[in-house]
Amino acid sequence: MEGKVVLRFGTIVSLLLLVALVGATIANAYSNAKVFDVRRYGAKPDGKSDSSEAFLAAWNDACKYEGKARVVVPPGEFVTDAIMFLGPCKGSMGFIMKGRLSPPDRLSDSGKWITFRYVNGLMVSGHGTFDGRSYADPSPKPSAMSLRFEFINDGVISHIRSVNSRNAHMQIYGCNKIRMHNILIKAPGNSKNTDGIKIGASTDVHVTNSVIGTGDDCIAILGKSSDIHVSQVFCGPGHGISIGSMGYYPNNEKNDVVTGVTVTDCTFRGTTDGVRIKTWATPNAGLVQNLTFSNIHLDSVDNPIIIDQEYCPKPPCNQVPSHIRIEDVTYDNVWGTSRSAVAVKLNCSKMYGCKGLVLKDINMIQKNGLDATSFCSNAVGATHGVQKPSPCL
Ligand SMILES: *[C@@H]1O[C@H](CO)[C@@H](O)[C@H](O)[C@H]1NC(C)=O
Ligand SMILES: *[C@@H]1O[C@H](CO)[C@@H](O)[C@H](O)[C@H]1NC(C)=O
Repeated sequence: MEGKVVLRFGTIVSLLLLVALVGATIANAYSNAKVFDVRRYGAKPDGKSDSSEAFLAAWNDACKYEGKARVVVPPGEFVTDAIMFLGPCKGSMGFIMKGRLSPPDRLSDSGKWITFRYVNGLMVSGHGTFDGRSYADPSPKPSAMSLRFEFINDGVISHIRSVNSRNAHMQIYGCNKIRMHNILIKAPGNSKNTDGIKIGASTDVHVTNSVIGTGDDCIAILGKSSDIHVSQVFCGPGHGISIGSMGYYPNNEKNDVVTGVTVTDCTFRGTTDGVRIKTWATPNAGLVQNLTFSNIHLDSVDNPIIIDQEYCPKPPCNQVPSHIRIEDVTYDNVWGTSRSAVAVKLNCSKMYGCKGLVLKDINMIQKNGLDATSFCSNAVGATHGVQKPSPCL
């Protein structure tokens, strides 16, 4: 009896502490921050009025504020046309999205909807939703990306949803030190070019604790990127997590480089690809080096582990051996089921081959219960531990 009372008291104390902690965390996000509420600038939460000017006015005032500034979008349905939130700003900036934001059917910019550019110290958060309303887009081709982060230093993007984008949901471009977590991305599995998160020309980017279901790559890591870490991401439907594609543009050797990537503790369900490296079969040079995929669970995936140096989504393509070098790639503790017979496909360039591949503890079978197989072409490396399917390295 006494034990129980003590326990209950303990539980209550813990709960109170937890409430205090959560409260402190929320308060912390706003502490010393000046709030710039878009409604005070005339934004209307009626789901149809164009609030672009109000959003921009709130941002511009916040950007001039010498201190911590927070643009706040309260609950409600807002509509804005293409907007560029431009820095540099006087202090650190926050964009706290509590409501739901949508574009009109026809956007004034065919390539992007919401862009943050040249901001040092940016937080985008608030549990709100960016709804690209792709179904209302009159453009026959994939059009505006929903959220673009361009040349941001020190950014945190968390607790937001992006749904129904007209092109990629989010692009990180030319950024340094970005932390993304608790992000939900959703688009129909058959929607074209709706990459979840594209990361290009950026360094020190972490994506963690997020759920991505889309019609293209869940995450694509593109040229000129290094020190990129993905963990605890659920991907499906979609085309998996991709490095590349690389080698598409001529004379781009310095930019077609991806190094220092880790993908850890991720789950893929019902995707076309799992962990993929893709390069075009062109004479354009480049380098993919020092990647580790570890603790990867693949459930019912068409091509679970794949290096494709003949990437050609719309044949015919220029077919010369790829000039992109692939080196030091480790797959460690990868398990699950494949929807195709070939669970491990390492199809490397005849020109350079792939070097320094490591397969460690691979345990894959076919979805139908049969043994899977591996395919290697010009792939060089080592194997350790469990190997199912039997390796071809
Ligand atoms: C490989 O990448 C990891 C993760 O970014 C990094 O810590 C490590 O220093 C890199 N190793 C080499 C040899 O570049
Ligand atoms: C591997 O690439 C070659 C070209 O080098 C291509 O002809 C072949 O179909 C590919 N094999 C597989 C199994 O994808």
